[in-house]
Amino acid sequence: MESNSQTERILSFFKDTFGSTDGARVFAAPGRVNLIGEHIDYCGGFVFPAALTLGTYVAIKKNGTKETVRLAATTVDGIRSFSLSDFDAAKQMNWGNYQAGVVKELMDLGMEIGGFDAAYLSTIPFGAGLSSSASIEVSTGLGVSTLFGNPLTGKELALACQRAENRFCGVSCGIMDQYASVAGLAGHAILLDCASVSHKYVPLDLGGNLLVLANTCKKHSLGASKYNERRREVAIGLEEMNRIAVSLGQKEPKPDLCSFSKDELREYAPHITDDVIRKRVMHVVSENQRVKDSVSLLENGELEAFGALLRDANQSIRYLYEATGEELDAIFDATLDFEDCIGSRMTGGGFGGCTVNIVKAEAVEAFKAHVAKKYTAVTGNIPEFYVCEVGDGAREITLE
Ligand code: GLA
Repeated sequence: MESNSQTERILSFFKDTFGSTDGARVFAAPGRVNLIGEHIDYCGGFVFPAALTLGTYVAIKKNGTKETVRLAATTVDGIRSFSLSDFDAAKQMNWGNYQAGVVKELMDLGMEIGGFDAAYLSTIPFGAGLSSSASIEVSTGLGVSTLFGNPLTGKELALACQRAENRFCGVSCGIMDQYASVAGLAGHAILLDCASVSHKYVPLDLGGNLLVLANTCKKHSLGASKYNERRREVAIGLEEMNRIAVSLGQKEPKPDLCSFSKDELREYAPHITDDVIRKRVMHVVSENQRVKDSVSLLENGELEAFGALLRDANQSIRYLYEATGEELDAIFDATLDFEDCIGSRMTGGGFGGCTVNIVKAEAVEAFKAHVAKKYTAVTGNIPEFYVCEVGDGAREITLE
């Protein structure tokens, strides 16, 4: 993350908004791109995200009150305020409830939190499926817990932020985004096992290629979209698979869909009577296998095959999970006849947002022009492109 200039900007904004920055501290947490493993973090699967160099910066300082929290952001007018003794009222804020939810989780963990002021600056495009909200949650969780003497880090920080989004903001998200924002490592992707909530790093060596994000500029909103509906469908899918499996001789029900192998999928899925549920299950189990396969390919430097699996994954989320939409489909299709793009897929929650593309470095400008022309012809929208660099996870920025 371009720390120096952003740190200066956020401190200067803090000063303009709340007065003196004496005693203020600055924290940063990145957004993420998910390379493969979509919509399976909440099914006990493997996912393969990487932290971006884009993220959220927060300058934060105790304000001497017992329970008044004041929040501001460079992109939001005015100051939002809530009381640590009235989280019901905090829920009604039209901005700031990710932060309030995280603070509530810290207090529920037994931390003693007092009043504070916090100013936010984000370098991630909002609503683009790059986890701007997780980066707000994680920067807040790390910042507030550290300020009040009890730094929460690692898996516990990620889980607290996920609970905040589930309970306070009503989005039943999985653990991927918050975990990637916490655990990011420059130059590496994170192979996250969502069943055990643990990870290993994999060097992201793409040869002469770059990762290019193509933003449909169609905002997605997880809450309003079909995210929670998909979660209900896969819960039914798990019940169905277990019912069928047990009737065919399996001893114990499995804890999640990703515990089923591809062979078991082949055997049981034809017995699922509901077409929609069957398709969702087929996506989840096959996607989990694709993640494992693609990581081996990447580790062996088989980039073309890695890229091809990304395309397969896109078609699975498009036709089986039905979580893309006209814009994502158009921007994906626009890449198919561009030879120097060896892989492409939607990334994140879907229903809008971005695709991630592996493109030969010298062909990036031509790629942008090619995709933009075709995408605009189909949808009338103007896309945006970002060459993404893979950065570090959440941290405090040392001030001189
Ligand atoms: C959103 C959620 C994640 C994950 C993805 C889809 O980003 O926050 O938990 O489910 O969608 O893979």
